[in-house]
Parts: sequence; structure tokens; C-alpha cells
Amino acid sequence: MRLSTRSAAAVAALLVCVHARAAAPPKRTPELLEKGRVSFKLNCASCHGETGKGDGVSAQALDPKPRNFAVGRFKYGAKPPQIFATLGKGIPGTAMIAFTQLPDEERWALAYYVSELRGRARAAGPAKGGAAEARP
Ligand code: HEC
Repeated sequence: MRLSTRSAAAVAALLVCVHARAAAPPKRTPELLEKGRVSFKLNCASCHGETGKGDGVSAQALDPKPRNFAVGRFKYGAKPPQIFATLGKGIPGTAMIAFTQLPDEERWALAYYVSELRGRARAAGPAKGGAAEARP
């Protein structure tokens, strides 16, 4: 009996490990990016704009303004793990809140999608005032 209790504990410990590993970044798949696109429209576009240019409907009223992903510098880094971290913490003193109500996988989807949006927006050429771009 004791042994089986112990092995149950061992199994539980193993499950904890497996679970902890599941928190590692999911793969950047087309499905995940699509999930990010849908979530971005729902949760982010009102401020950042559909294409991430910082021109969402509520942007006008905000100070500081939402980041223009095409030309803006990312204070906390523009790599997906860094964006993921920003989504977990938010940016204190700004309208950019933490999005911890979203599951981890969805925040990863958003992180990948934002990095893709950024790449696309930058490839399309600098927007107005884009000369001041500082690389992250
Ligand atoms: C209510 C408006 C609002 C919403 C909604 C919003 N943001 Fe932001 N976001 C901001 C503002 C404002 C800033 C700029 C803050 C600053 O300048 O410090 C910002 C900055 C950022 C940055 C730049 C971080 C950095 O390192 O500089 C990222 C990335 C970002 N937002 C992603 C998102 C994502 C993804 C979502 C949706 C899940 C989202 N935001 C939703 C207002 C918003």
C-alpha cells in the first residue's frame, strides 16, 4: 500500500513536470497565427488598429498612444517571448493592461501575430514620421 501511495506521488510529480514543460512556447504554426489574428481583432485592434499602426478607434484619446508596430520601438522587446511577457505584465501607467485573463496559448498566438504584423508593416515601408525608428 505504501509503495503505491509513493508511486502515486511519483506519478503526480511527473505530471507536474510535464505540465511545467507544457508552458514552453507552442510552435509557430499557421493555426496559431490565425488564432492570434482573430484574438488581435477582438482584444487589441481598438487601440492598435487592425494592421497594428496604432490607429485604432480609441487611440486618439490615449496618452501615451498605443504603439505603432510599424515604426514604434518596443520598450520591452519585439521578440515573441518578450511580447508574451509584456502581455503578462502590461505597461504600468498606460492603457496597455496585462492580458492574463487570456490563456497562455492565446497570448503566445498574439505574440507571434504581433511580431508578424510588425515585420509586415515594416516591410511595407516606413509610415509617416517613421524616420525616428529605433531598433529594439
Ligand atoms: C486600451 C488600449 C490598448 C489595448 C486594448 C491594447 N493595447 Fe497594447 N498598448 C497600448 C498603449 C497605450 C501602449 C503604449 C504604452 C507605452 O508607450 O508605454 C501599448 C503598447 C503595446 C506594445 C509595445 C510594448 C513595448 O515593449 O513597448 C505591444 C507589443 C502591445 N501593446 C500589444 C498589445 C496586444 C497584443 C494587445 C491585445 C491583446 C494590446 N496591446 C491591447 C494600448 C492598448
